[in-house]
Amino acid sequence: MISEKDFIPSNYTHSIEKGLYKWSAPSNIALVKYWGKKDHQIPANPSISFTLNNCKTLTSLAFEKKEGNDNFSFDLLFEGKPKEDFKPKIQKFFERIEQYLPFLKEYHFTINTENTFPHSSGIASSASGMAALAINLMSLEKELNPEMTEEHFFQKASFLARLGSGSACRSVKGNVVVWGNHNEIDGSSDLFGVEFPSKIHENFKNYQDTILLVDRGEKQVSSTVGHDLMHNHSYAERRFEQAHENLSKIKAILESGNLQEFIKIVESEALTLHAMMLTSMPYYILMKPNTLEIINRIWKFRNETNIPVCFTLDAGANVHVLYPENVREEVLELIKNELVGFCQNSQYICDEIGFGAKKL
Ligand code: PMV
Repeated sequence: MISEKDFIPSNYTHSIEKGLYKWSAPSNIALVKYWGKKDHQIPANPSISFTLNNCKTLTSLAFEKKEGNDNFSFDLLFEGKPKEDFKPKIQKFFERIEQYLPFLKEYHFTINTENTFPHSSGIASSASGMAALAINLMSLEKELNPEMTEEHFFQKASFLARLGSGSACRSVKGNVVVWGNHNEIDGSSDLFGVEFPSKIHENFKNYQDTILLVDRGEKQVSSTVGHDLMHNHSYAERRFEQAHENLSKIKAILESGNLQEFIKIVESEALTLHAMMLTSMPYYILMKPNTLEIINRIWKFRNETNIPVCFTLDAGANVHVLYPENVREEVLELIKNELVGFCQNSQYICDEIGFGAKKL
């Protein structure tokens, strides 16, 4: 089994003075949710997600050898302008990953980052952002060690991304990614995300995710605080077991293409995530009245039409509407005619299953 030690490099064979890379990394949406973690960003339960295609972060990393190597040195630009308030997160990330990338203090970095989705849309940019930064850093490590295998490159990018933001480790590869040890998923690990190893049924090809922006405000609960709520939570242990069971079920569903069963697990997972927050101490209600309106309308539409559309939620009020490509027109009609009225400024984002980080 791969351990943390496997990500500590031995001596580099090459050197490089300066350079520039640019990568994009997508967001992802969990089907079986990660909620609760142990030390060092180890998940309390395994999770599985669809990698998205359109919602992504584009990050360039310029680097140049500097004098002395006592400190991390970097500038952080968001959409081309300095963004001081992002810096502490990057500083912390560098501290966490330094032992795995011992060259970090030797360079000055200029990180320039932008998202394809609107800022403060309530879509977490930490997953795509950390994945994009991690993979850029791996491009630099690969120049220092050109013998590195492609497999190690992507595995370590995911490993590093996880140390930035847990679910970011599911944003390096596509199109379905598992993170966390699970006895039915070959190669699965708590340390990094792996591509779903079995063949995925045609029904899930180009699966659609339309994100309805119900509330674009600041997150009520940061995910760090949220994960902490699972410590000493009355239902935590049973929840972690349930995630294992649901992952087994989703595995069989992705293979068989059974959309009715898919809907049951995915919606139940979304509501369970929120149930954990409703029943923690302190407790939170992260849905808004419009979230519930949308859910009820999706259910009504599904009952009336038999169209296999369902919803999932992150730790917030926005609704991800999931459906197969062959019912796209009908579901978009529903969204335009009925659901946009419940979105802030009628905003929604059309996305679909995608294939992971790309070098630009
Ligand atoms: O990666 P974090 O620490 O922001 O946690 C994300 C947790 C959820 O989005 C709520 C669920 C998941 O598995 O993505």
